[in-house]
Amino acid sequence: MINPIEVNNINQNIHQNRRILITGGAGFIGSNFVHHWDNTHPQSRIVVLDALTYAGNLQNLASLQGKENFRFVKGDIGDRSLIDQLLTEEKIDTIAHFAAESHVDRSILGPDAFIHTNVVGTFTLLESFRQHWLSQDKPENYRFLHVSTDEVYGSLELDDPAFTETTPYAPNSPYSASKAGSDHLARAYYHTYKLPTIITNCSNNYGPYHFPEKLIPLMCINMLLGKPLPVYGDGQNIRDWLYVEDHCQALELVIHQGKTGETYNIGGNNEVKNIDLVKILCQLMDDLADEFGEKLPVKPCEELITFVKDRPGHDRRYAINSTKIQTELGWKPKQTLQSGLKKTIEWYLNHRDWWQPLLSEEYLKYYQKVYNL
Ligand code: NAD
Ligand code: DAU
Repeated sequence: MINPIEVNNINQNIHQNRRILITGGAGFIGSNFVHHWDNTHPQSRIVVLDALTYAGNLQNLASLQGKENFRFVKGDIGDRSLIDQLLTEEKIDTIAHFAAESHVDRSILGPDAFIHTNVVGTFTLLESFRQHWLSQDKPENYRFLHVSTDEVYGSLELDDPAFTETTPYAPNSPYSASKAGSDHLARAYYHTYKLPTIITNCSNNYGPYHFPEKLIPLMCINMLLGKPLPVYGDGQNIRDWLYVEDHCQALELVIHQGKTGETYNIGGNNEVKNIDLVKILCQLMDDLADEFGEKLPVKPCEELITFVKDRPGHDRRYAINSTKIQTELGWKPKQTLQSGLKKTIEWYLNHRDWWQPLLSEEYLKYYQKVYNL
């Protein structure tokens, strides 16, 4: 008879040896997750599939290139034959699905790619994984983690309670509508086929490798360049911020201990108005730049704050209630907003060589279109 300690060890081994396909692993959260998984599961086979769109960057994975347990494949999640081939030849048992078009402003300028990747791409992955799972006789330990967003729940009024896992979906942008569609597909694949899918809906992330089209990295870089800090509308919109490493830890827990067919909300419990967040960033940058021997072109940075026209359909407030993952899986974020923002600014101060090449002609054209600055 196997004693409970041995059972525990067997489970640990199964977990440590997962053969994981990470889609979108060259993007912001995906690449942070790849590093996190590699550090915490050195025995695991890691295959990254990424189309390397403007948001994908091989530099994010540079330290992993050449490692025996790691493989990078450039490709589209909508390419069925490529996915079929990868799942079979790499004997994949776990998919962590991050690949997406992720920026709301870009979805307003051109929604097509959002439908292609977020809806059709997710469908293609689910269908390919289902066939693979069936061909292996439905192994119990297979997992499909679908990484999604709190934006699918729509916008909150100031006095509304935070989003829970049962809040009805009410997406407001082409981006969030496409993510909502993909969530429904992941849910339906569990309900209909019992494919072991799990969905997570997370609030706004920030941290290293964040592409400078999103609020926090854009502000950090513009402060270093002495460019205007564009705040949309009246700056009173509220977001709930989570340091990316805390998100990665939550996802790891969900893969190992989450219940299939379930949804888990993940949030930082850090609701802040955009204008207040930008002011905190300015203060931190004023203080830290000196320490790093960086001479800021404009100081104090607050002088750079510029109110610009609002985002069309701009959601007023997001807030996540993460009681379920906290009580059922024991997850808790480690970083406070202040400690996470400090780490993030330090990272951008230390990594000019990472962000400078991203300010390409295509980026500047996009910037001009959105901000007219
Ligand atoms: P990102 O834009 O930084 O990265 C997306 C990655 O997906 C890029 O590397 C890109 O090259 C790749 N990709 C795009 N289309 C592809 C395709 N057709 N095939 C293969 N690869 C493709 O995004 P992110 O901010 O890291 O977000 C990752 C996931 O997390 C997304 O699903 C997003 O909806 C979700 N999410 C993001 C946040 C956030 O605050 N950033 C919060 C909650 C949930
Ligand atoms: O809530 C999770 C979502 O967070 C993710 O699903 C998305 O992928 C991610 O991009 C993010 O969406 P937001 O639209 O909330 O993030 P963004 O960084 O674009 O904007 C944050 C807030 O700051 C939002 O209210 C708009 C505002 N903003 C943004 C930019 C880029 C500005 O005021 N000025 C800016 O220049």
